[in-house]
Amino acid sequence: MTASALTNNLFKPLKVGEITLAQRIAMAPLTRERARVADSVPTDIMTTYYTQRASAPGTLIVTEATFITERAGGYPGVPGIWSQDQVHAWQKVTAAVHKQKSFIFLQLWALGRVAGPDTLRSNGHDLVSASNISDTTQVGQHLALDDVFGEAPRPLSVEEIKEYVQDYVHAAQNAIEAGFDGIEIHSANGYLLQQFLDEHSNLRTDEYGGNVENRARFVLEVVDAIISAIGADRIGIRLSPYETYGDMKPGIGTLEQYAYLLKELEERGLKPNGRLAYIHTVENTFKSTNSLGEPILRRPLEFVRNVWTGVWIRTLGFDRNLALQFADVDDKLVIGFGKSFIANPDLVRRLKENLPLNKFDFKTFYRAGSKGYTDYPFYES
Ligand SMILES: Cc1cc2nc3c(=O)[nH]c(=O)nc-3n(C[C@H](O)[C@H](O)[C@H](O)COP(=O)(O)O)c2cc1C
Repeated sequence: MTASALTNNLFKPLKVGEITLAQRIAMAPLTRERARVADSVPTDIMTTYYTQRASAPGTLIVTEATFITERAGGYPGVPGIWSQDQVHAWQKVTAAVHKQKSFIFLQLWALGRVAGPDTLRSNGHDLVSASNISDTTQVGQHLALDDVFGEAPRPLSVEEIKEYVQDYVHAAQNAIEAGFDGIEIHSANGYLLQQFLDEHSNLRTDEYGGNVENRARFVLEVVDAIISAIGADRIGIRLSPYETYGDMKPGIGTLEQYAYLLKELEERGLKPNGRLAYIHTVENTFKSTNSLGEPILRRPLEFVRNVWTGVWIRTLGFDRNLALQFADVDDKLVIGFGKSFIANPDLVRRLKENLPLNKFDFKTFYRAGSKGYTDYPFYES
């Protein structure tokens, strides 16, 4: 380790729920589409991939987003966690990661309106969301097979929302059975839960829409039901307040919406055993100038710390220097790395020892077998 890194928070242990990380570095969730297409069962190559990335003991891995049920899905090659076959296949992954003395949380995913409509239909399911508003940013684009984006979704009924909450609970219980240290609720990046949080995709007039409290109701019901099922200290949640992906439209109401949601999560932590393991945010950056007119990069998520006092994972656009800088001024911060973890199976070691990084190849991000997946080299001096 270099001298400055030796004393930096980034390389100090941190308790996250019931586990203790050896350093404050997490592998961010990364969809790679290497599961078996027919039944969403994780494949052996996925075990190899996660084992490699768990090579530094005490690393936190958040898995690729994983469908809670078949109807919540609609992308090929994405793993699931609703069937016993999937649970058994995931057990190989969690056992291998634990053998490396690292930790692994499963990210729970429901797509909502951005799913492939034909894939859903072929399995007897509808395209659903908070309201009948489509994602206009990807209209006409082909996803896979015959799927074409742009169809208007059907609003979920209240009864269906309650069923979805139970689907999340079932998935979380399966994750624990599969040996995961915890789960991360994917409430970010424009998928189903964020479609309820965003006032432009949620035009409901029932108890799930119309104001800040109601738009947060679905996600908080999911949180509370999973707390009852597996305990708060095994739960993380991912949020991306200023994300525009999936036709999310952050605006003047965004701060109020997320400040409310975070306050609710913070208040659950004041009750015995109510503290979630962590909040995970996807950063959003924009260029601005300081008082001297010099260009600086601003991050509009600083407000999170005014509300949330627990462990906070921040991801997007971090390199070693920025991670050191951020970690050292906040004693409960973990830095998440996405693309650099794709290309560097030994990223934690490289960050610690300040070694050069492999470059990622975006052409092999999705569905490309072992190429660009398990063949990135470990560092050799
Ligand atoms: C190939 C790829 C797949 C991703 N899949 C997911 C995912 O399944 N769930 C999720 O929440 N974010 C996903 N993301 C976003 C990453 O978790 C992360 O926020 C993003 O890569 C920014 O971090 P970075 O700048 O360190 O790469 C994905 C990103 C990439 C590049």
